[in-house]
Amino acid sequence: MLKLQNISKRYNEKVVLENINLEIELGEIVSLLGPSGSGKTTLLNIILGLTKMDQGSILFNGHDVSYVAMKNRGFNIVFQDYALFPHLNAYDNIVYGLKNKKNLVSEQEIREYIEFLELKPHLKKKIGELSGGQKQRVALARTLVMKPKLLLLDEPLSALDGVIKESIKERIQLIAREFKLTTIIVTHDPEEALTLSDKILIIQNGGISQFGTPQQIIQQPSNEFVKEFILKQLHIKRQNIYQLFGEQYA
Ligand SMILES: Nc1ncnc2c1ncn2[C@@H]1O[C@H](COP(=O)(O)OP(=O)(O)OP(=O)(O)O)[C@@H](O)[C@H]1O
Ligand SMILES: [Mg+2]
Repeated sequence: MLKLQNISKRYNEKVVLENINLEIELGEIVSLLGPSGSGKTTLLNIILGLTKMDQGSILFNGHDVSYVAMKNRGFNIVFQDYALFPHLNAYDNIVYGLKNKKNLVSEQEIREYIEFLELKPHLKKKIGELSGGQKQRVALARTLVMKPKLLLLDEPLSALDGVIKESIKERIQLIAREFKLTTIIVTHDPEEALTLSDKILIIQNGGISQFGTPQQIIQQPSNEFVKEFILKQLHIKRQNIYQLFGEQYA
């Protein structure tokens, strides 16, 4: 459904991504996981159409979209800093992108997204009057009303903690399932990737270390880097690992 072929990117002679090949199925949640500077945001922006690749192609549902402009790809992103408009209230932020696309979504659907993300009590508030989790939900709603064919999220949970983080995580999963929306999430947190996604792409130095289900990555890490990165940095409590993957991995 989304197929990346031989994608490479350099910045001033520095190789940032090299020969990335990847296939993502409809409705799948895929995490891009890797250390800082490994090329995660660059890959996400290339898929979105914001950053130009030097080489390679992107196929979406069998169509080559490599040279299709960002606005015509029909993909949508929630940036790490949310990029909300501070002078508008929450509601006006949510519907901002619909200005010239009145028929894209009905009033009823907009209301459903708002209810689903529990934003009704906050619609009149300015962005500065919202908490981090509320801003995150506004940013998600603003993206979802555009009915993206592919949802891209750059570190959607990193500014959140505890209960809010869990609730946004659940909502992302619900959205992907309910709307059969293929979702790619950037994260540098192994626990987040393992608990949130159907598959994980581990990037290191611009190349793919491993692509597989959380179970595959825990059970058969492809190299020492994956082992180190996942297992040593993993702050999941043993209890959680047990619940996720069975006794032998706890
Ligand atoms: N516009 C740019 N010009 C020059 N170099 C860039 C540019 N954007 C990214 N880079 C470089 O490309 C590499 C990958 O950057 P990228 O932002 O994709 O990493 P990342 O994996 O998202 O890191 P982080 O976890 O810190 O967000 C880094 O070495 C970065 O310095
Ligand atoms: Mg990044």
